Amino acid sequence: MILNLIITPDMLNAQDIKLPAPSRDGGMPLMEALNERESSRLFSEKDLTPQNLSDLLWAAWGINRDSDGRRTAPSSHNRQEMDVYLAMKSGLYLYDAAGNELKQVHGRDIRALTGTQDFPATAPVNLIYVADLEKRGLKEGQQITDTDQLSSWANTGFMAQNVYLWCASEGLSCVIRAMVPRDKLAPEMGLKPLQVVILAQTVGFPPEN
Ligand SMILES: Cc1cc2nc3c(=O)[nH]c(=O)nc-3n(C[C@H](O)[C@H](O)[C@H](O)COP(=O)(O)O)c2cc1C
Repeated sequence: MILNLIITPDMLNAQDIKLPAPSRDGGMPLMEALNERESSRLFSEKDLTPQNLSDLLWAAWGINRDSDGRRTAPSSHNRQEMDVYLAMKSGLYLYDAAGNELKQVHGRDIRALTGTQDFPATAPVNLIYVADLEKRGLKEGQQITDTDQLSSWANTGFMAQNVYLWCASEGLSCVIRAMVPRDKLAPEMGLKPLQVVILAQTVGFPPEN
């Protein structure tokens, strides 16, 4: 009997993190979460739990309509060109919403490279919002204009606000950041020329005292 099984290097990566199912109910009432939403730049170094990560990422960019794969945040023309990467102590990961897992890109700690401020280097999670402009119809070698990226910046705003509200609901600290050294960060992430870093967002527990 011939086994018709193709094993790709992806499937063999032992460093991927399978996440528990996201909690798709509960949390703080919406108006209370809006009342609590704020930027905070004070973080404990304590890691988020796998459940925290699953809920956080589902809030940011999870699939909320299983029938057609649409998401918790809108995207222009439903192009879904956004990817969410996570820089953590254990390495760089890409959120796979359909598989509900974190695919490890590499095992290096590049948190310090995600920002020009000091707290990203020690906070447990830095989300990096990346637009893949190939999914918006751009072709390899094409010059990227500001207009090409407009929708991706808007999409990121929705995702980041979802994260702000989830953090408010869970009592976590977070801040969205444009101060990102994109030229240094993109090569460390192994991004292709049509992948553009839009914003980063640091998330973690508030300091214990
Ligand atoms: C597009 C954008 C970029 C931002 N970039 C940074 C940043 O690089 N670093 C930072 O500490 N805060 C950044 N912030 C957070 C703002 O400073 C913060 O939202 C503002 O001071 C209002 O505070 P609040 O969010 O608590 O209402 C940014 C906010 C936005 C919307």
